[in-house]
Amino acid sequence: MTLLIRRKTPGSRPPKPRSSHLESGSEVCPKYKQMLFTGCPKQRTTFERIHLLIITVGAEKGGVSKTRLATHIAVLAASTGTDVVLLDTDRQGSATSWSRIRNDAGVAPAITVLSLPPNPLKELISLSGKYELIVVDIGAQNYRTMMECALVSDLVLVPCGADQQEVESAMKVCDDLKQKGSNHEKGEIPAHIVLTRVSPLSNATATAELRAMLRDEGVSVFDAQLAYRTAWLTTGKSGKAVHELKGKERSPKAVAEMNAVYEEILRRINADTKESC
Ligand SMILES: Nc1ncnc2c1ncn2[C@@H]1O[C@H](COP(=O)(O)OP(=O)(O)O)[C@@H](O)[C@H]1O
Ligand SMILES: [Mg+2]
Repeated sequence: MTLLIRRKTPGSRPPKPRSSHLESGSEVCPKYKQMLFTGCPKQRTTFERIHLLIITVGAEKGGVSKTRLATHIAVLAASTGTDVVLLDTDRQGSATSWSRIRNDAGVAPAITVLSLPPNPLKELISLSGKYELIVVDIGAQNYRTMMECALVSDLVLVPCGADQQEVESAMKVCDDLKQKGSNHEKGEIPAHIVLTRVSPLSNATATAELRAMLRDEGVSVFDAQLAYRTAWLTTGKSGKAVHELKGKERSPKAVAEMNAVYEEILRRINADTKESC
């Protein structure tokens, strides 16, 4: 499955926004998007979108895999020809550091990262004509930015491990996103928890119990998950993605898990259309 976004026509302008759902003071609504889907829903393996797609990866907590997830989404999208930019809103600049290492080492595709925009929401708006996909990496404790970006996102991913405090925090984030949903153009923010750093055992009781608890709480959780695997640590110092690692560093299971997460992203975005064939 690939992410296929229609190339911008040189010189073309985005159509005028229908209405702004942003708070007063914002000049323009970034959701002036039009979607063109191909094929029947069952057959859809690609989508084409004019203008822009925004995926925000955020959580209240640090160290939960926000940056790993955001950088990998960017690499997988870029690898299939999508014009993608990563917005690093974290003062720690981990995504920026990762891309610097990557681009200095000449790893292809190079990933463009914009660091610490003073006003991330405005930056999203101004980038809307320049890229096809923006992946936003939110810094820990950067709640305001997460909420602002979530309101204009097509997908919000909240990484969370099987740790009590992480789970409590992720559920609070999901609650807050739910509360703000009426300000999203779809009437709700398309937010999902992605389980990360969970047990590598496919039948781990702790993971199954966590999933059951989140389901009972009415929180949407990705079916795909990322287990704790040392390959993820290697990606930071090499500027690579797990599927780009070779030899002893490579973990086919980490690659398969990340691919599954990426495919679920595409599936959920495609499923979000009311279009029928
Ligand atoms: N699936 C995983 N398995 C093992 N280590 C991981 C995994 N995901 C992330 N890590 C490690 O956890 C640390 C934090 O990840 P990072 O993506 O920087 O988190 P955040 O952006 O949420 O602070 C890093 O050292 C990273 O290598
Ligand atoms: Mg980070």
